[in-house]
Amino acid sequence: MASLKNLLLLLTASLTSVQAQAPGENHLISRRKLSKRFIDENGNYNISFYHLNDVHAHLDEFSSSGTDCTRPERGCFGGYARIKTVLQETRPSHPDSLLLNAGDEFQGTMFFSYYGGEKIAQTLNEIGFDAMTLGNHEFDKGDDHLGEFLSNLTFPIVSANIQSSHPVLNKTIKPFHIFEEYQLAVIGVTTETTPGISSPGPDTKFSDPIEAVQNTIDFIRSTTNIKRIAALTHIGYEEDQRLAQETTGLHLIMGGHSHTPLGNFTGAVGPYPTLVDNKAGEEVFIVTAYRWGEYLGYIDVTYDSEGRILEYHGAPIHLTNTTEQEPGLQAEIDAWRKPFEEYAAEEVGYTTVELDQSLCQLGECLLGDFMADAMLEYRLNSSSVDFALINAGGIRATIDAGPITRGEVLTAFPFGNSIVEITVTGKQLWDTFAGILTKVNPRNGKPVTSFFQISKNIIVEYVPKKNSTAATAEGELVSVSIGGEPLDLEKEYKVVTLDFIAGGGDNFFYPTFGNLITLDTQDQVLLGYIERLSPVEYALDRRIKTISKCRRKWVERERKKRAAEKKKRGL
Ligand SMILES: *[C@@H]1O[C@H](CO)[C@@H](O)[C@H](O)[C@H]1NC(C)=O
Ligand SMILES: *[C@@H]1O[C@H](CO)[C@@H](O)[C@H](O)[C@H]1NC(C)=O
Ligand SMILES: *[C@@H]1O[C@H](CO)[C@@H](O)[C@H](O)[C@H]1NC(C)=O
Ligand SMILES: *[C@@H]1O[C@H](CO)[C@@H](O)[C@H](O)[C@H]1NC(C)=O
Ligand SMILES: *[C@@H]1O[C@H](CO)[C@@H](O)[C@H](O)[C@H]1NC(C)=O
Ligand SMILES: *[C@@H]1O[C@H](CO)[C@@H](O)[C@H](O)[C@H]1NC(C)=O
Ligand SMILES: *[C@@H]1O[C@H](CO)[C@@H](O)[C@H](O)[C@H]1NC(C)=O
Repeated sequence: MASLKNLLLLLTASLTSVQAQAPGENHLISRRKLSKRFIDENGNYNISFYHLNDVHAHLDEFSSSGTDCTRPERGCFGGYARIKTVLQETRPSHPDSLLLNAGDEFQGTMFFSYYGGEKIAQTLNEIGFDAMTLGNHEFDKGDDHLGEFLSNLTFPIVSANIQSSHPVLNKTIKPFHIFEEYQLAVIGVTTETTPGISSPGPDTKFSDPIEAVQNTIDFIRSTTNIKRIAALTHIGYEEDQRLAQETTGLHLIMGGHSHTPLGNFTGAVGPYPTLVDNKAGEEVFIVTAYRWGEYLGYIDVTYDSEGRILEYHGAPIHLTNTTEQEPGLQAEIDAWRKPFEEYAAEEVGYTTVELDQSLCQLGECLLGDFMADAMLEYRLNSSSVDFALINAGGIRATIDAGPITRGEVLTAFPFGNSIVEITVTGKQLWDTFAGILTKVNPRNGKPVTSFFQISKNIIVEYVPKKNSTAATAEGELVSVSIGGEPLDLEKEYKVVTLDFIAGGGDNFFYPTFGNLITLDTQDQVLLGYIERLSPVEYALDRRIKTISKCRRKWVERERKKRAAEKKKRGL
C-alpha cells in the first residue's frame, strides 16, 4: 500500500513538473513511462500507427495541383502545421503510438530547392517522428548532403537494404529499430532502383529489399523476443504486395514511393489497409498515404501474442482547410518563405528567342519543344527512351527573350510534376494522339482536355479540322513516325512523360500506369537544360505537322503499299 502511494505521489509530481514546462503530449509520454502497457488475458496488445510518405518538401499547405496555396477559397491541403494539430489532438488518447515516415521528404518545392534538407530536418524533428526510412529522392543531392541531413535528425533512420561506406551514412542508417517499450521492431527498406533514378555515391549500394527484410526478420526473431515486426518501406505499392507475399514474420507494411491513394474516397485505387496473404497464409496489412502529406495515414491495430494482427481500425486523415494549422510551426514556415523572392529573381541563363507558351494549345510551340527536349535529354542519360510527351496545359507562361530567371522557369512549370518513364505499345500511342486530336479518348470515350507537345525523334502529322472554334487544335491523325520509322502498332516504345499524364491526367492514356517511379521535377530538369544550353537558340522544327487532305491521301497510299509489301514478304 505504502509503495503504491509513493508511486502515485511520484507520478503526480512528475506530471506536474512536466506540465509546467510543456502542455499536451509530453504529459502523456511521462505517464506512459511509469505505467505498464495493457495486455489482456489473451496476450493481445493495441498500438496506433501514424504514417506519412512522399511529402516532397510540401512543408506548407498547397493547392489541389500541388502548387503554393495562393487561392485559399478554392481549397488548400496538407502542410506540417495541420499534421501537428492532428497529432496534438489525437495522440494523447492513443497511449501507445508511433509516427513513421516512409521517405521522399526531398524535392518538390522551393523549401528544398532553396534550403536543401535543412528546414525539412527541422520540421521533422519538431513534429516528433519516431523513425524514418529513406526514399530515392533523399539521394538527389548526393551522399554528403544526405549525411548532413541525417545527422541533424533526432530519430532513427532505418533501411535494411542500404550498405554504405560513406562515413556518415554508415553511422546513421541502420537496418531496423526496436521500440523496447512497445516490444516492436520497425525494419526499413528503400527501392533498389535508387542508383538509376537518383544520385547516391558509388560506395552506397542497394540490395534486394525482400531478401533484406526476410533476413532482418530472421535476425530479430533469433536474437530477441520481439514478435511484433512492421516494415517501413519506400518501394511502391506493387512491391509492397510482393514483399507481403514472399516473406514470413511480417504483418504490417507502411509504404511509399508510388504515390498510391488508398482508402474510401474518389480516386483511391485500393482499400486501406490492403490485405495480402504471406508465405505462411497469414494476413499482412499494407497501408500507404498517397503523396505530399494531403493525407496522414492512421491505423490502430490489435496484435495477438504471436505478433499477428487480429483487428484494426482507422483510415487516412484528409488534411483540408477544416483542420487548423498549429500556429507556432506555421509561423516558422511562413518566415522561411521570406528569401524565396530574391531566389526567384536569380538569373539561370539567357535566351536569344522568346520561348513561347501562347500557342501551345493550338499546335507545336517553342516552349513545348524546349521542355520536351530537356526531358528527353535528361532521361537519355540513364535509359534508352524513344521520345518525350507532355500536355500543353502544363505549360503556363512564356519565357521572354533575354536573361532567364529561376522564377520564370517556376512560373512556366509551377506544378512540381515529376518526370516518369512509361512503356507503351504503338497501338496505344496511336490511340493517344488520335484521341488528343479528336478530343475524345477512343479507349474510354471520355474527353481529352489538352493538346500535346513532343520532343525530337518523333513526328506527328494531322489534317486540321476546318473552321474549328475549339480552344485546342483538333484534327485527324495521319501518321506518327519515331526515330525516322513509321509507328509500329505491335512494338513497345519507351516514353518520357510526367507523373500527371501517366496517372491519367488530361485523359491522354487509358488505362493509366500504376507504380510509377518519379524522377526529378520538371522545373529542375529544365533548369539543368538551360544551364547546359545557355545562350538558348531554338526554332520550331515542324515535329507536329498539319498537312492537307491531298498529302493525307498520299501518306495513306504509301502506308497501304508498305503493308502490302510486308504481307507479301511474310507469305
Ligand atoms: C484494443 O482495442 C479494442 C478496440 O478499441 C478494445 O476492444 C480492446 O479492449 C483493446 N485491447 C487492449 C488489450 O487494450
Ligand atoms: C475551404 O475549401 C473549400 C474547398 O475544399 C472551399 O470551397 C472553401 O472556400 C475553403 N474555405 C476557405 C475559408 O477558404
Ligand atoms: C544541419 O544543422 C546545421 C546546424 O543547425 C545547419 O547549419 C545545417 O544547414 C543543417 N543541414 C541540413 C542538411 O539539415
Ligand atoms: C558500415 O560499415 C561496416 C564495415 O564496412 C559494414 O559492415 C556495415 O554493414 C555498414 N553499415 C551500413 C549501414 O552501411
Ligand atoms: C465508404 O464511404 C461511403 C460514403 O461515405 C460509405 O457509405 C461506405 O460505408 C464507406 N465504406 C467503407 C468500407 O468504409
Ligand atoms: C548525365 O550524367 C552525368 C553523370 O552522372 C551528369 O554529370 C550530367 O549532368 C547528366 N546529364 C543530364 C542531362 O542529366
Ligand atoms: C468555314 O468558314 C468560312 C469562312 O468563315 C465559310 O465561308 C465556310 O462556309 C465555312 N465552312 C464550313 C464547312 O463550315
